[in-house]
Amino acid sequence: MRKITVRFDKVIANQEVDFQARWGEVHGLVGENGAGKTTLMRVLYGMYTHHEGEMYIDGVKTRFTSPKDAIAKGIGMVHQHFSLVPSMTVAENVVIGKPPYKKGLIDLARSQEIVQELSETYGLKINPRARVSDLTVGLQQRVEILKALYLGAEILIMDEPTAVLTPQEILQLMDTLMNLKKKGKCIILITHKLAEVKLVTDRITVMRAGVVTAKVDTKDTDEKKIAMMMVGREVILEVNKDEFNPGDVILDAENISCCDKMGLPAVKNVSLKVHRGEVVGIAGVQGNGQSELADAISGLLPLMSGEIRVNGTRIAGKNLPLQCREAGMGHVHDDRIHVGSAGDMSIRDNFLAAVYRRPELKKGLFLDYRKADQVVEESVEKFSVKIGKIADDISSLSGGNMQKLIIAREMYLKPRLLIASQPTRGVDIGATEFIYQQIVKHRDAGNGVLLISNELSEILALSDRILVIYKGELIGELSRGEATEEKIGMLMAGIRLAEDKEGRQ
Ligand SMILES: Nc1ncnc2c1ncn2[C@@H]1O[C@H](COP(=O)(O)OP(=O)(O)O)[C@@H](O)[C@H]1O
Ligand SMILES: [Mg+2]
Repeated sequence: MRKITVRFDKVIANQEVDFQARWGEVHGLVGENGAGKTTLMRVLYGMYTHHEGEMYIDGVKTRFTSPKDAIAKGIGMVHQHFSLVPSMTVAENVVIGKPPYKKGLIDLARSQEIVQELSETYGLKINPRARVSDLTVGLQQRVEILKALYLGAEILIMDEPTAVLTPQEILQLMDTLMNLKKKGKCIILITHKLAEVKLVTDRITVMRAGVVTAKVDTKDTDEKKIAMMMVGREVILEVNKDEFNPGDVILDAENISCCDKMGLPAVKNVSLKVHRGEVVGIAGVQGNGQSELADAISGLLPLMSGEIRVNGTRIAGKNLPLQCREAGMGHVHDDRIHVGSAGDMSIRDNFLAAVYRRPELKKGLFLDYRKADQVVEESVEKFSVKIGKIADDISSLSGGNMQKLIIAREMYLKPRLLIASQPTRGVDIGATEFIYQQIVKHRDAGNGVLLISNELSEILALSDRILVIYKGELIGELSRGEATEEKIGMLMAGIRLAEDKEGRQ
């Protein structure tokens, strides 16, 4: 790809990007959120046709008019969100784009044979007759890959494929990619997870803010250097924290159960405690009840059963979220756009919405506006949130800055218990580094933190104690010392550890 430029209104998503990948390699395309990776690959996949620049495949100049066109020339793409039909079988999903016919009908037996053959050729084990809705996310992804291969993909683009997988599933995927590479295919792997890049790629292209900032052979680099090329400066994601010295219980949740918004059981009989000076991490694959657990604990979802005490105060009755706040809880919600903030309100009002009851902000019965503005300005500065004016809409902020503002707001109340749910989701490495430091500082100052995260590296970096949630239940507990990626991964997949079955039950 030569000098590819893609504009959306005023945004230049790709600016004169040069990108080359070779047959028989896994090529890592890395960069922070918004760097332009997906856009570049959508050009290659024929989804964006309004680009400038030229494309050559095997030296032949090519310009696609649609994904169909790209597929016909051997390009395949597995997107971040799958496009399978859940009610259909694996075989039906794989052949859906170009089914084999017999007497005018789709030949199901032949479809199953095709999937069986593909599955053997590429070592992608799957039951062609299984219904997609019954498969784990890892297997659904396998169906997506088979689908691309069936349509003749020689160049296979994978867009952030590991975000939804357990560590074991990630290793299996890496195996698959190595297999495909051995068959001579070209694999382009988009990811921001540096360990993966180092493990599986041959070469790396780094993008930052729409331009390519580096092209390197993987063997000549390391995670630190890659991070630096992505961010443009040195980043420190290892955290230094004080020795673990837990104090009194600050959160005591006993046998709590609740339903999700659809009314289906989401959290089942969960008991957990958080102590002062402790970060308790909740690990799990996305969609196992972790969001609902955070909402239940912070009073946003009603309990079906169980009891919650924050700092000794029982939270029950009316106005639960307010009671939680007054008992000393802060909550960084995982949905910062819809719940953590109000998009059509200003930065100032979003900040004040949670803190306006503080006595120091009052002038008699009313809000002291001058003082309030001053507090917001100070917090914005202290948390290095990049903003225009505090009167601007909060929706004008980038993901990372919005998250920093929300954390600044929650921290202003000096919560004795901080619930941080997916605190770095969609946030760039620079802001992630900052958020990690804030969480650790808060713990070191003797406060409790309940960290809920789908990023295992984050759980391992920050937690003193790790609980794993699976289908709404806590199925294992590990101290930081005993926790390994492998053990947590087993639990995330619902496999209880042997010692846990016998010992702790
Ligand atoms: N369809 C679109 N319309 C408008 N802006 C877009 C669109 N797709 C991407 N962008 C913008 O282009 C930039 C690059 O986005 P993207 O390619 O998705 O980055 P990445 O995949 O590296 O996270 C971002 O600023 C994003 O907001
Ligand atoms: Mg992307």
